[in-house]
Amino acid sequence: MIRMIVTACAAVFLLNISTVAAQQAPAGGEPLDGETLFATTCGWCHADGGREAGKGPKLAASERTDEFIVQRIKHGKEGAMPAFQGTYNDEQIAEILKYIRGLKDDPG
Ligand code: HEC
Repeated sequence: MIRMIVTACAAVFLLNISTVAAQQAPAGGEPLDGETLFATTCGWCHADGGREAGKGPKLAASERTDEFIVQRIKHGKEGAMPAFQGTYNDEQIAEILKYIRGLKDDPG
């Protein structure tokens, strides 16, 4: 009788462990990330992740339209900023735009 109870407890214990393990399974591949894209290609001109002016202007709290920003990323500006339409597809540019829109004007 005692043996049966011990076995039952062990079974419940194992069941709990496998439930926990299933819940901790990773959620799958990371999607594209505008912040990473920005940091690797834009950050050395648009300082502090776009929050400060560097070689290029500050982008946080920009009053430009989405359309203007997308066009600027795609086509750049001669003598000032390179064009990125060959580097990034529309989806990636949309992620970067989302990142810029999410910047807070005051980092403090
Ligand atoms: C080589 C430096 C450089 C890099 C790299 C660069 N930019 Fe620029 N960017 C500039 C300069 C300089 C300007 C200002 C151009 C002008 O005179 O209007 C600018 C302007 C802009 C503007 C328009 C801002 C405004 O209000 O007029 C946006 C938006 C922008 N950049 C986004 C980006 C993004 C996003 C990236 C990365 C994909 C990037 N830039 C990479 C130098 C750079």
